[in-house]
Amino acid sequence: MIRIGPESLGSTRLLKEYGVKYAYLAGAMYKGIASKELVVALGKAGFLGYLGTGGMARSEVESAIRYIQSALDRGQGYGLNLLCNMERPELEDEVVDLCLQYGVRFVEAAAFIQLTPSVVRYRLHGIRQNERGEVVVPNRVLAKVSRPEVARVFMEPAPAAIVDQLVAQGHLTPAQAQLSRQVPMAHEICVEADSGGHTDQGVAYALMPAIFTLRDEVQRRFAYEKSILVGAAGGIGTPHAAAAAFAMGADFVLTGSINQCTVESGISDSAKDLLQTAGVNDTAYAPAGDMFELGAKVQVLKRGVFFLPGPTNCTSSTSGIGRWMTSTRKPVSSWKPSISSDRSRMSGRKRGPITCEAIPPRLPMSSRIPGRRCCSSFAGISFNPRAWPSRVSRISG
Ligand SMILES: Cc1cc2nc3c(=O)[nH]c(=O)nc-3n(C[C@H](O)[C@H](O)[C@H](O)COP(=O)(O)O)c2cc1C
Repeated sequence: MIRIGPESLGSTRLLKEYGVKYAYLAGAMYKGIASKELVVALGKAGFLGYLGTGGMARSEVESAIRYIQSALDRGQGYGLNLLCNMERPELEDEVVDLCLQYGVRFVEAAAFIQLTPSVVRYRLHGIRQNERGEVVVPNRVLAKVSRPEVARVFMEPAPAAIVDQLVAQGHLTPAQAQLSRQVPMAHEICVEADSGGHTDQGVAYALMPAIFTLRDEVQRRFAYEKSILVGAAGGIGTPHAAAAAFAMGADFVLTGSINQCTVESGISDSAKDLLQTAGVNDTAYAPAGDMFELGAKVQVLKRGVFFLPGPTNCTSSTSGIGRWMTSTRKPVSSWKPSISSDRSRMSGRKRGPITCEAIPPRLPMSSRIPGRRCCSSFAGISFNPRAWPSRVSRISG
């Protein structure tokens, strides 16, 4: 039997290029729920976490970057969330400006339907050719997507119209614009199946193979020097789920909900208390306040709160997120991830149990969470995720 340690799961290229010990990333969570403390704890432990910049003021993001940079050693990984903002694109620009000012090399781009000048500006900043003639792109965009058509725009090179605009504005040189045709917008695509927060309610077993096929097609067409990596997110809250994602061929996994119950997460203690006792059927879907017109949904906790399940919205989540039965919150620094497995079992040749010894051990599960401004127009209740549930405010209408 070959023992597989957690360090050997996923893409070794990702480990090297992201400077992490494990192919295990922690997604951004709004308004600093994915807090600077969480990002630092993850970085120190050999993971990479993205700061939840959404809803944070520019000054808060800036001081969080300074905190993270001073707390982490050189080479320890961290990143920021870049949320698409169709109503206020200047907020995207603010995050990009800070990233460029402070040399932030990793960004998790989310909620994009199409590319915007700010995400292209971040990606192509500093693009150059090295002495061996290879194209070097210092800034890494991990694109979190739940649909093949959105995955495609990130897998292809940046659109010429946006690149030309950036050249005209002086953000890129014509030579850099030429080089941009040789690289994808994102070398890392994270396929998000049904998840906490905003969700497209996708099914990982169906989505992942579709995105692998698309990746292979795009790779053949553009013949990139480095192929695009594809990771998995959504419903990964147990070692078993992580093992399943890697067995399906994921280059990395990305978690969200599960991280809310860490000591370091920025959500309130009362919310942590509720989340860590939530079961797999204790969630519901509600319209997302910020993308209401697009029909977007958020997955929320329905047990122990004033969420009013109506006849059409009380469907429980079946995404299979698991739970660690414990009431003790653990700091990230105590995580000792380890998945061990019989490799031949993974390839389906021999029978035998896959033993998963926890990523992280005994970390309490948070399942789905009261999202930001969730269901305000739906249930007549709005939540402030930081104060929730002690400050649940009624809104009119
Ligand atoms: C409370 C909460 C807030 C979130 N906020 C954001 C956000 O601001 N930006 C973002 O890109 N993703 C956000 N996410 C999604 C996570 O980064 C991650 O992709 C997702 O939670 C993974 O699925 P899981 O919750 O099933 O593990 C949020 C998730 C949760 C649970």
